[in-house]
Amino acid sequence: MKYLLDHDNYAAFDVLERNRLPARSYFIPYPNRARADAVTALEKRYHSEKVLCLNGDWDFKFYPRPAELPVELDSDTLDFGKMPVPGCWQFHGIDRPFYLNVRYQFPFDPPRIPKTEPVGRVFSWIGFDQGVKPRWKTPEEYNFAGVYRRFLHIQPGDRRYVISFLGVASCLDLYCNGHFVGYSEGAHNTAEFDLTPYLRPGKNELLAVVRRWCTGTYLECQDMFRNNGIFRDVLLRIEEPTDLWDIDAKTCWRNGRYSLELAAFGNEGTRVRFTLSGHGLERSAEAAVEQGEARVCLEDLDVIEWNAEAPTFYNIYFETDSGCIKERLGFRRVEIRGDLFLLNGKRLKLKGVNHHDSSPTGGYTLTPEEIGRDLLLCKEHNIDTIRTSHYPPDPLLLELAEELGLYIIDENDLETHGTWAMHLPPNYDLISDDPSWEPRYLDRIARLYGRDKLHGNSCVIMWSLGNESGGTRNTDAMYNWLKARTELPVHYESIIHCQRKAYDVGSEMYPAPEQVEAVGLHKRKEAALNDRPYFLCEYAHAMGVGPGNAEAYWQIIYAHDNLLGGCVWEMTDHAVLHPDGSYSYGGDHGEWEHDGNFCVDGLFYPDRRPSTGARIMRHIYRPIRVRWVETDRFEIFNTTAFTPGSTYLLRFRWNDGTETQLRPEAEPLSRIRVSVPLGNKTAAGQRVTVYCTDTRTGRIVSEEQIVLAEPSLPVPPVTSLPETVKILNGRFCMELPDGHKLTAECPSTSIWRAATDNDRDPQGANTMKAWYKTGETLLSVKATEHGYEIRTRLSRDPMTVFEVTDSYEGTEDGVLVTSRIHCLRGKGNLPRFGKVFRLHRDFDRVEYLGRAGESYRDMKEQFPIETVQARVQNMTEPNIKPQESGNRCDCAWAALSDSGVTVRFEAVDRPFELGVKPYSDLALTKMAHREDEQATGTYVTIQAFQQGIGTGSCGPRIAPEYCFPVQEDYVLRFAIKVK
Ligand code: GAL
Repeated sequence: MKYLLDHDNYAAFDVLERNRLPARSYFIPYPNRARADAVTALEKRYHSEKVLCLNGDWDFKFYPRPAELPVELDSDTLDFGKMPVPGCWQFHGIDRPFYLNVRYQFPFDPPRIPKTEPVGRVFSWIGFDQGVKPRWKTPEEYNFAGVYRRFLHIQPGDRRYVISFLGVASCLDLYCNGHFVGYSEGAHNTAEFDLTPYLRPGKNELLAVVRRWCTGTYLECQDMFRNNGIFRDVLLRIEEPTDLWDIDAKTCWRNGRYSLELAAFGNEGTRVRFTLSGHGLERSAEAAVEQGEARVCLEDLDVIEWNAEAPTFYNIYFETDSGCIKERLGFRRVEIRGDLFLLNGKRLKLKGVNHHDSSPTGGYTLTPEEIGRDLLLCKEHNIDTIRTSHYPPDPLLLELAEELGLYIIDENDLETHGTWAMHLPPNYDLISDDPSWEPRYLDRIARLYGRDKLHGNSCVIMWSLGNESGGTRNTDAMYNWLKARTELPVHYESIIHCQRKAYDVGSEMYPAPEQVEAVGLHKRKEAALNDRPYFLCEYAHAMGVGPGNAEAYWQIIYAHDNLLGGCVWEMTDHAVLHPDGSYSYGGDHGEWEHDGNFCVDGLFYPDRRPSTGARIMRHIYRPIRVRWVETDRFEIFNTTAFTPGSTYLLRFRWNDGTETQLRPEAEPLSRIRVSVPLGNKTAAGQRVTVYCTDTRTGRIVSEEQIVLAEPSLPVPPVTSLPETVKILNGRFCMELPDGHKLTAECPSTSIWRAATDNDRDPQGANTMKAWYKTGETLLSVKATEHGYEIRTRLSRDPMTVFEVTDSYEGTEDGVLVTSRIHCLRGKGNLPRFGKVFRLHRDFDRVEYLGRAGESYRDMKEQFPIETVQARVQNMTEPNIKPQESGNRCDCAWAALSDSGVTVRFEAVDRPFELGVKPYSDLALTKMAHREDEQATGTYVTIQAFQQGIGTGSCGPRIAPEYCFPVQEDYVLRFAIKVK
């Protein structure tokens, strides 16, 4: 079949769509109520007789050089390959994954988009974090295109056929049986076209031309892999004359009662039966469509309200002679009163996360099961809020959020970050303040609202205008557009960079806790943050090890009613999974410009295994907090907004094995004190772990440990050194009974760590790198009464020099090690102070008493102190980009064993921090991917301290209370025993 292809729409500034149908609610109709009732939310899209899902392998022809895309195309002569729908090209062998954060992939010259020629000169930033100056590049890159084809078999009849594309990047020219149907852009918005005039009974041909970039791409400069393709489901809706085009529902609360306005849009005269049903309630009303709509109002409804903690929903049915649309609906009120954000009249704290639709095998494509899994993971980790960063998600996510109970901040598909990054001088507002772009802004917000309006009754609690696009003219236009249609608050963080500072809620990303506290106290110089609710749309950047010190925010959030909570950045790492099981990130695919591993910044690994970050947030977001006040008094803080404390069962388990249970009567967001008799449980080392079970689900929602008395770690009496100990060239060495040795590593003192992602400075440079060169020089070895004293010098650079004095003395059954560090010259903080030992890799079993998982000073409460058994390879974390990991705080002892011998390290004076790795820290500094982690031995680091982690990769660096100034002297003491 022959087609005359359009070569202008994608790049023409005055074309935003052609023949695209107006936005409407997303729904899936069924022939009748019984059929609509018979499917689950996950099945709904795929089981209706009235909706044909067009997913599958479509014919596909890729044009790497857009100039080769003909004006006249004959589909019969084209050598098509295959491309899955939904699917992203870059994840199916076309071009390559391309990760960028704040820049466009083409020269910044809005609204010009590269057409058939190479993109031309582009300003490149690569390596700026290593001091490389920005420079011009002329990459061999094109605005490539792909042609999809699919056949459709249609029965003759009096039907309308509407095709819905739920997501296409970047744009779509649609053709059918040789005719042009229409054009659409706005990748994460639904695009619908009426195919009826072009179809004929029998076989029909659909053709879709998808371009890499279009004018709309200027509004899609989000921090993510930049993918292309028909990446969400494609549905063919078969509409009969009495089927409905759109539906709407609005709950309304007046004087303690709800009413529900229901509206249906369809052909004149269509009779619609509206029903609200559930929880013993069944109310119906009928109306006929007049002048396009039918409307009823169900008054005086005695309903149970919806909230994320107890998501009570009702069903609404819109029935006509030919079909039934069934949707879930919750009744709830959102209200801003002064600086309070109230849900159903109650204050709440949003325990949130940012969620991208991101899969390591599918890019933007998530299966229904994957979407469901992400939401369940949130629930399992006490997360109750999702910001759909930075675009409307697959609509299924909202349906599931309704059902499972999650608050949604539904974000518009809008980010123009490159205006700041690729323009000199940087100008955030360049596009957002330009009236010629206003139609595009309004189009996007209308499509967000139009698609998701039903959910504005329950799970969607705020509309978000987008991300990082500055303002103000076009963002104001979107704001006003929404305000004319919905009472829900409007969120938009980037307005903080403009004079206006805030819309309905104040919003910020990555402020330091002190800045958040200033808002709590109404003392921010940006007055607009003080007089309305305040929300952290992004905080606790979860890149690599971390986030550190996230609890500090929550101490403040709970202290001030105007602070609404926040969303961690972000839920999952973005990376690409390869057939051999390896993962790649930015720059691994030959991208001419990229942002490295900045995409690997989630609480969950790409396969959704929780990283320590997920454990940290599960702990911080726990519904019940327990604090020891004094003697047998404990404070119970119910952090929920709606759930009575007695819903939770608290089991206090002491480390002597005894247990007490109680169901705390604390009201939502309030504290009570309870008495839990301690008996004689105040001996040294006494701890209590409180397990909190949600009695509705039986799920343990938190384990919280309180140390009632520090352990006693006495100094063992000293005597002469065992004969197995030698000092060789100033280095400690102990012969073990099975012929192996325990030797001090070189260098034997560790004062740095392999940089974590958070050890970056604000320019992105590695703050730890300068320490890697630290040299260790032997100054003296002296025999003492019970052993040896060894003095060494550690020089990082001529201005940063330390002297370390180690003493090794004999004890009844081993060696007492005392190490002192003193700074001769230097400033700033000491990242770490520990002694490193090496054992043969046969020593692969670890047992210790300390924090039961990865912990650092500013992120350790998520794991209780316990006796743990592990393998060495499991003592580090599988970060996509290897870095320091796996530290264990508060250790009383640690033992490493091979099949016959155990080397035991015992804390003296105070607990130590333990690091056990199958490779050296120096080797770790050179690793870029998981596969680089090759075991070369067992490396044990016994540390007095390691500085905290912070969130310096994008946010505040390590808080001073978790830093160790070089000016102070530090001592580390522990004993070594061999069995
Ligand atoms: C924010 C942005 C996110 C992400 C994050 C850093 O500025 O909104 O999209 O880039 O920083 O990971």
